[in-house]
Amino acid sequence: MDTLIQLLYAALSEEFQQFYQYFITKDILTGQQRHAVSESFTDFAVDELHDHAQKLIDRLIQLGEKLQPIQSPMSWPLLTKNSFKLLSPNCSVLDAILLNIETEEAAIKRYEEIITAAEALNDQTTAEVARQILLDEQEHKQELIDFRDDIDSLFKARVNSLELSKARKGTPEYNEWLRKYKEKRGAAQVEPLTLTEHDKQRVESLLSDVGTSRESRARKKFVRLAEVNPEKADIRFKEIKERLGEDHNFVKTLERISPEGVKSIDEARTKKKEAQDKAREEIFEAAKPALEAASKEIKKQFGGSISEDKFILRFEKLQSVLGQNPLLDQIRDIAKSKNFDLSKQVPVGLSWKQEAHTSMRVRQITNALKNSLKDITLPKEALSNAKSSQFIDFLKENSK
Ligand SMILES: [Fe+2]
Ligand SMILES: [Fe+2]
Repeated sequence: MDTLIQLLYAALSEEFQQFYQYFITKDILTGQQRHAVSESFTDFAVDELHDHAQKLIDRLIQLGEKLQPIQSPMSWPLLTKNSFKLLSPNCSVLDAILLNIETEEAAIKRYEEIITAAEALNDQTTAEVARQILLDEQEHKQELIDFRDDIDSLFKARVNSLELSKARKGTPEYNEWLRKYKEKRGAAQVEPLTLTEHDKQRVESLLSDVGTSRESRARKKFVRLAEVNPEKADIRFKEIKERLGEDHNFVKTLERISPEGVKSIDEARTKKKEAQDKAREEIFEAAKPALEAASKEIKKQFGGSISEDKFILRFEKLQSVLGQNPLLDQIRDIAKSKNFDLSKQVPVGLSWKQEAHTSMRVRQITNALKNSLKDITLPKEALSNAKSSQFIDFLKENSK
């Protein structure tokens, strides 16, 4: 196997392990800042697997590889000397951060190595892939370092405070410190989710992908995020919408993914449905005299002594002529009072006589409707708002 291919397999194996490292630790971190760190780990895990590993796989395949060396997870540690390090259960945030700074540094070295090797072979495509991933790894490392420094300064501040508290317990200074400490803790607990620096960076990087060949990958990343952390996805979605405007195609795509977006689509759908229902009620109200005339016919056709089979045939015929309509409810009620089962299968193969007779009976009902509709004007706006249906169309065609 040539060196470049070997390096790509080593990098791929490291990506899988790095993904796993973030993915498995993100939910078991303990200590301050664990929520923020866990969020970043989630994002990083998405990057490692869905972006970096995928890019490497794509490139290996383009280079004619069939991925055999990497097919078994057992082979992963054999492909690289940067072996996976296990964190102890309940690992502190700081432990996890320090370990991952190390592995990100190793990743940076790896991609620098790949860039050099690819350029030596004048393989610009592989070099470019490695450069793109390298940027992410540098971003990962920087973010981890920022976290480490934050935690460091928090820790130092706490040590100072603790010393203060030890020395002067019971003094006004101590009480003041305690009050401030409690205030801070209380505030931390109710802190609403807002757009953090980290989110801003992520939004920037996502926006820089929009309109480029990386857009679909950016979208996939967002899908992943929406699955693992819907609140985060919402916050970033709002920002993206603000930046691009709600009519932007990419915003519309994300809208179908982000829970916030889905909610607004659902709301719009519910609103539309409510408007349609209202419009239908309005139409039925206006068509009431016609419905009453038809209802009288229905009592005649279905109310008297009639066999169950004939009843069902007429019901089905009426339904096929008018579609779903309120008159059917009336027939269902009559069927109930007669103990007829409308879901029963009626023997097929009607004689022409039976067929004609059924049709005639049903026509008497529709004629009653039509005659009465001639004098009725249905509300125009409601007609355009109502969901179109066979019955609404029938009312429309036959009214004034
Ligand atoms: Fe990576
Ligand atoms: Fe990374």
